[in-house]
Amino acid sequence: MRTAVGAVAVICAICGHAAAEENLSIFSPESPPANSVRDLFYLIFAITGVIFVLVEGLILYSAIRYRRKPADASAEPAQIYGSAPLEMAWTVAPLLIVFVLFLVVVRSVVEAREDPTHANRLEVKVIGHQWWWAYEYKGADGSTVVTANELHVPCDEPGDPTPVALTLESADVVHSFWVPRLAGKTDLIPGKSNRMWFATDKPATYYGQCAEFCGMQHANMKLLVISEPRAEFNAWLENEQQVAVEDATVAAGRERFLALACVNCHTIRGASSRGAVGPDLTHLAARQTLAAGAAPLTREKLIAWIEDPDSIKPGSLMPNMHLSRKDCELLADYLESLK
Ligand code: CUA
Repeated sequence: MRTAVGAVAVICAICGHAAAEENLSIFSPESPPANSVRDLFYLIFAITGVIFVLVEGLILYSAIRYRRKPADASAEPAQIYGSAPLEMAWTVAPLLIVFVLFLVVVRSVVEAREDPTHANRLEVKVIGHQWWWAYEYKGADGSTVVTANELHVPCDEPGDPTPVALTLESADVVHSFWVPRLAGKTDLIPGKSNRMWFATDKPATYYGQCAEFCGMQHANMKLLVISEPRAEFNAWLENEQQVAVEDATVAAGRERFLALACVNCHTIRGASSRGAVGPDLTHLAARQTLAAGAAPLTREKLIAWIEDPDSIKPGSLMPNMHLSRKDCELLADYLESLK
């Protein structure tokens, strides 16, 4: 059974590897917890592989060597009962194997759960929602900076590690934070705070996926981790900390937004919109994607999303407000200005 699971995992991982654009393979780790997941996989695969070859080999050998021959058609084969050495062997050997597997798994779990104490670490609170991610950072002045769906982190520079420590919570049901190239899965459980960490020295965009079934749009609860040099990260955080820009050329769209029910669910800092049900939109236009990675953030998709959220994410909790095309365009004008 274990070998079968291993084989399936290998096939899935190889298929995952083929889609290089959104790499979700555990075989290209870029962070210590992900390294230990891969190493653990190889070790268990090797142990179970040896067992598989041994058992299957013995079965094949016995089937061929002791197959039924015409000569012994009527004779009953020798019946053997109670061999103490044999029974000892097949009890003790599996026990030892299970014990070794248990030890290596515990070691990896402890490594992955170790809370970084590095003074330079970045602390981010992650809150899972149906079906998007809220991220809370601490700004330079100690204020809380809230954003959504794209987790920006600084990457390690030579001699200057900046591990990322996440506190994971949930606003509704159980979700699971899984960015395979950075770390293993950690659940976000209502009423509970979980911790996980990762650290990478490679600036890149890492892709992930909610890994615990959480409802209709579970598959569209994607994760985007953008690892960038510290200076770029600081500039990003500083921008996120600002209140929303007030562009006079999109005043009409702004007015529509503030007059509609949008304000009941979304926060735009600096405007009188303080809803906390949906993602914070203060710097929406600085993001690459819409609706937790369900679509790229283009004007066309933004309008389609406002017009009918179900056209992009069926079952999404954002209601169709039956707005006119003109209103959708005005809202898109305003949202696109929120850099
Ligand atoms: Cu959130 Cu699945």
